[in-house]
Amino acid sequence: DDLESLAAEIDRASTVVALTGAGISAPSGVPTFRGDDGVWEHFDEGQFTYGRFQRDPAGFWDDRGDLQRELFGEAYEPNAAHVALAELAAEGYLDAVVTQNTDGLHRDATARVRGATADGENDTTDESEGTDHEILELHGNARRVRCVDCGRRQDADPVFERAEDGDLPPRCDCGGTFKPDVVLFGEQLPGAVIQRARTLAGESDVFLAIGSSLVVQPAASLPRQAAADGTLAVINLEETPCDGDAAVVCRADVTEAVPRLRELVR
Ligand code: OAD
Repeated sequence: DDLESLAAEIDRASTVVALTGAGISAPSGVPTFRGDDGVWEHFDEGQFTYGRFQRDPAGFWDDRGDLQRELFGEAYEPNAAHVALAELAAEGYLDAVVTQNTDGLHRDATARVRGATADGENDTTDESEGTDHEILELHGNARRVRCVDCGRRQDADPVFERAEDGDLPPRCDCGGTFKPDVVLFGEQLPGAVIQRARTLAGESDVFLAIGSSLVVQPAASLPRQAAADGTLAVINLEETPCDGDAAVVCRADVTEAVPRLRELVR
């Protein structure tokens, strides 16, 4: 079937890249943004833009606490799809994971596969530190905050607690305002990050788009770029705008399709 031929291509390929979205973390319990019961049905996207943060940082932080609780109010564990990707990487079949997710679960899965203590902490700032493949977090990491002035990063939890206690907006020791270390709507992705993602998409022989609605730019442009001279596969429960460019479209749950793909590759 389709996954068998895809596995054969992965076996032959020299560069394989995965792009993931909220759908890969949905089976871990992390809410998705769109679709049934998506986060943007309960929250107004307009409250969480970069413009709002700049205009009204106190109001932004006040509202952001509710969103943070909705998204990360409980501790999540990587699921079989995260683990299968980490295993494919450890086995040398997958070169990079480019993720739109800010939950850090790809790093946790990698730590688990490497036998390191996956303690749920995610304090690494180097894009590839502690991993044997590249994990590129396109939209940042919501478990951290960053000072807009001095650039210092730190664990998000205590800063959200301060905001909840009325310390609005929470500030760094240097006096600068903290911002969740994620890319907000209306905010540019760091140039080096999007450039690296484009390079990976261009170099890939096989590009796997997994669990993303593929509607948010610039991430959504990567599959088409990869399809121009490589094989694109889309694994997602729902139709995506990139399905027409894909050699393989697999409309299945990620926790079934990705482990199955890994079994077929070996
Ligand atoms: P979306 O919520 O837009 O899309 C998630 C996709 O995953 C949907 O198409 C679902 O059908 C699919 N899906 C859900 N559960 C699945 C499962 N178990 N197996 C397979 N597919 C499943 O999430 P993203 O595409 O990641 O931006 O959204 C992109 C960006 O929009 C996010 O990174 C975020 C958001 O606003 C920022 O935070 C900057």
